[in-house]
Amino acid sequence: MKVLIATQKPFAAAAVAGIKEILEKGGHEVLLLEKYAEQADLVKAVADVNALIIRSDKVTAEVLDAAKELKIVVRAGAGYDNVDLAAATAHGVVVMNTPGQNSNAVAELAIAMMIFMARTQFTPATGSEVQGKTLGIQAFGNVGRLVGAKAKALGMKVKALDPFLSDEQIAAGGAEPVHSLDELYAGSDYLSLHIPALPSTIGSIGYDLITKMPKGATLVNTARKEVIDEAGLEKALEERPDLKYVTDVAPDNFAVLQEKFGLRVFATPKKMGAQTAEANINAGLAAARQIVDYFATGNTRFQVNK
Ligand code: 3PG
Repeated sequence: MKVLIATQKPFAAAAVAGIKEILEKGGHEVLLLEKYAEQADLVKAVADVNALIIRSDKVTAEVLDAAKELKIVVRAGAGYDNVDLAAATAHGVVVMNTPGQNSNAVAELAIAMMIFMARTQFTPATGSEVQGKTLGIQAFGNVGRLVGAKAKALGMKVKALDPFLSDEQIAAGGAEPVHSLDELYAGSDYLSLHIPALPSTIGSIGYDLITKMPKGATLVNTARKEVIDEAGLEKALEERPDLKYVTDVAPDNFAVLQEKFGLRVFATPKKMGAQTAEANINAGLAAARQIVDYFATGNTRFQVNK
């Protein structure tokens, strides 16, 4: 089978080598499309491929229409909001993710971002310490649990809210369970977001929630920019000069936020939560193994469009 690795933001070279080795051993041919400039390049490249490995690359209905031989797309990562699942299902294409494989990298970035903001973006201005502060975690999945464990090691108190988990499951993950967003935001000096971008979560974090946070609080977003109501965030930062926002996914209004709020806001230039050699290797190799297994045995364990 022809397998295309299409990564606008490339994997580390070691990950690409490992992916190729697994796929070639499985009898597949590997093609590589990296750092492509336009979506049209992806549309062109998928014409005769049977499998696709992607990161945040957009697999739209147009891509799926053009990929006449496509059987499977594996998103090497957790979030699959970049894949048109309905169109994939309509084309009979299996979509998988590789849950957990890049979680540690994202969790480390969330912790780094908290400390970066606590220490006023590494400027000489007097900062604060995270020890003794409370971290609220919104969604206690693979990343949220790792963030919690690392925060506890730093001496933070950890609370979490997750509608899909029982109190016992949250406590077993080392956090104090919280039952409403209002309670979570009101009690968190740091609030770390780990929710996916879904119709129900898009634009769900706005003025009302953000202004519930206590004095001096910081909102940390290593999830998706779409979950933030950007106008609400701007209004909250305007009214509450004590609040801060740090994000791995720059909001559309970031230039305005930066001009208005200076060191109280920070955004990475390009999403980098999962951009470590380890995460690239873990997620990339898992994607390759899942493709080999799918063609060899029909295993659909990680399929997300069942
Ligand atoms: C994910 O959902 O796994 C992360 O957002 C990583 O995205 P990336 O592969 O584009 O870095």
